[in-house]
Amino acid sequence: MTAPKHFISLLDYSGEQLNALIQRAIELKNANDYDYQPLKGRVLAMIFEKSSTRTRISFETGMTQFGGSAIFLSPRDTQLGRGEPIEDSAKVISSMVDCIMLRTHSHEMVTTFAEHSSVPVINGLTDLLHPCQLLADIQTFTELRGDIQGKTVAWIGDGNNMCHSYINAAKALNFNLNIACPEGFAPQQAVVENAAAKLQFCDSTEQAATGADLVVTDVWASMGQEEEQQKRVIAFKDYQVTTQVMAAAQKDALFMHCLPAHRGEEVSSDVIDGPQSVVFAEAENRLHAQKALLEFLIC
Ligand code: CP
Ligand code: NVA
Repeated sequence: MTAPKHFISLLDYSGEQLNALIQRAIELKNANDYDYQPLKGRVLAMIFEKSSTRTRISFETGMTQFGGSAIFLSPRDTQLGRGEPIEDSAKVISSMVDCIMLRTHSHEMVTTFAEHSSVPVINGLTDLLHPCQLLADIQTFTELRGDIQGKTVAWIGDGNNMCHSYINAAKALNFNLNIACPEGFAPQQAVVENAAAKLQFCDSTEQAATGADLVVTDVWASMGQEEEQQKRVIAFKDYQVTTQVMAAAQKDALFMHCLPAHRGEEVSSDVIDGPQSVVFAEAENRLHAQKALLEFLIC
């Protein structure tokens, strides 16, 4: 049996391959062809340990539009939640479906699952990475501003799974990434070291935004960190993307956020609901980008 392709980290693929996926996503979006059903009869299993709106709906809709279907699995309702080994679950589930998407706390759960799966495994977010979101973000930037190569992106806020994914994207797609995180909330060293030449750590949000073509942020407390919310509100108080921060960026800079957002915390309402924000186009592109991904992995 040849090993299936997986999509666990952006770094599993070259910049050329990622750009080809993004171009395909744009093509599928523009064609809007409901008769194109390359995944007729194919099934995607989706295992969600954490909540989701966009990821669940985009994968399920994408499979349906392609003529296939998706099964939503909560660990609460499956034997995984009762301690059935990941290895056994991967072998069993992959013997019945054509692709598996997982959203988990532990990144190792996804990598272990992939090692024992006979079909492609997609990372639908772990505590470490959220690569599917980056496909949509880069698609959105490409549609509105062209190739991201050589451009400057500002990451403001937590050094979390989205920040790590931007770091990987900066390396794979060759753009500069300015990072401003509060002390104690920097991205993981191993992720940083791997892309160090593309990164610039900044002392303030304005410094990070200076000259940026794209400004990105995310929630201060990610899923699983709810108990740290109060502590984080204090630590992150100077890390809100405001109109003043956007004013330091290029005049035509875009603002992105993977959503869900907390207005008045990581971003002010006038920025996320303002003219530079493309968060809803970004959210819609989850569908188109993941259709391109499903076609690439399954067909
Ligand atoms: N951006 C994102 O992954 O959204 P969901 O948590 O709603 O899937
Ligand atoms: N960093 C956030 C992203 C949500 C899509 C989280 O992990 O909760």
